[in-house]
Amino acid sequence: MATERKQVYKCSVCGIVAEVLDGGAGEMSCCGQPMKLLTENTVDASKEKHVPVIAWGDGGCTVTVGGVEHPMEPKHFIQMIELEADGVLHRRFLSPGERPVATFDVKQTSRVVARELCNLHGLWKS
Ligand SMILES: [Fe+2]
Repeated sequence: MATERKQVYKCSVCGIVAEVLDGGAGEMSCCGQPMKLLTENTVDASKEKHVPVIAWGDGGCTVTVGGVEHPMEPKHFIQMIELEADGVLHRRFLSPGERPVATFDVKQTSRVVARELCNLHGLWKS
């Protein structure tokens, strides 16, 4: 299976997560086996805790993970929040204990797409 830019893959052996910067005919592999493509929003998990919520304010665009904030515990947390605004990628990496929220300084007229990565429930988009 060919790879495409911005696809996110996870190794089911060691847990490494990798994003593709440029696609190709090859297959992503790690620990001697193919990596699993994380498809957006398809994991069977609580939707209201995973879909990124986009809000605009004075500081720019704030992305909160979940209408009900997602847990940020050591074993289950949001690893990153990404915002693509007019083709420019902005990303914040998060750690357990922080809130699952990120504010990006982008113009309100921007076309935006937000993605987030949960360490257990994969990739979600809005
Ligand atoms: Fe989760």
